[in-house]
Amino acid sequence: MPSPSTPLRLAVLGSGRGTNLQSILDAIDQGTLAAQVVCVISDVPDALILERARRHHIPAFHISAAPFKSKLEGPAETAYIRTLKEHGADTIALAGFMRIIKTGLLAAFPGRILNIHPALLPSFPGAQSWKQALDHGAKITGCTVHLVDAGTDTGPIIIQRAVPVLADDTPESLHARIQEQEHLAYPEALRLFATTRIQIEGRRVRLLPPS
Ligand code: GRF
Repeated sequence: MPSPSTPLRLAVLGSGRGTNLQSILDAIDQGTLAAQVVCVISDVPDALILERARRHHIPAFHISAAPFKSKLEGPAETAYIRTLKEHGADTIALAGFMRIIKTGLLAAFPGRILNIHPALLPSFPGAQSWKQALDHGAKITGCTVHLVDAGTDTGPIIIQRAVPVLADDTPESLHARIQEQEHLAYPEALRLFATTRIQIEGRRVRLLPPS
């Protein structure tokens, strides 16, 4: 595994627009994140995230996750792992990847898979968390970057950013403001991941200076 001074060899997996990928690429371009995005993979053939990657001359692949609807397992999981290894990825950033990660991928990249979730976990795990927060009447929500474990949105938390819920918010307006914070949180969490030693004590992530 890379030492804290080595740039991350990052693979980004997503199913949608790829605005978080964009924020990561911008941070790399601005010199605030020591990383290279070595490949982007999507389970959705026409996902904008693939287009964004290609615009940046990053190898970008659609790999079907069929026959499953909401998880990555079986031959599809094997194909993802093969592509990730072929491109020399050492860290995986899930950025709107709408599938549950299973043990094969977790074992292939132990402790090196991150996810961004659009709520302050453990509140509102699962889909459309911004709508869940609004429907629940929460006054504050936000976003969380966490390590991925075998559960859904349950892994140890690296960083969180809060977003107030406004009286006239719609699901769309709230999600848009959460995304503004995501675009700060994900590059920051990856920077911490790249430059510190991560020690996990129970559920708590401690970020220590490199040894
Ligand atoms: C983000 O809100 C992320 O938190 C959620 O899916 C969305 C992905 O957005 N998991 P994008 O594709 O990065 O624009």
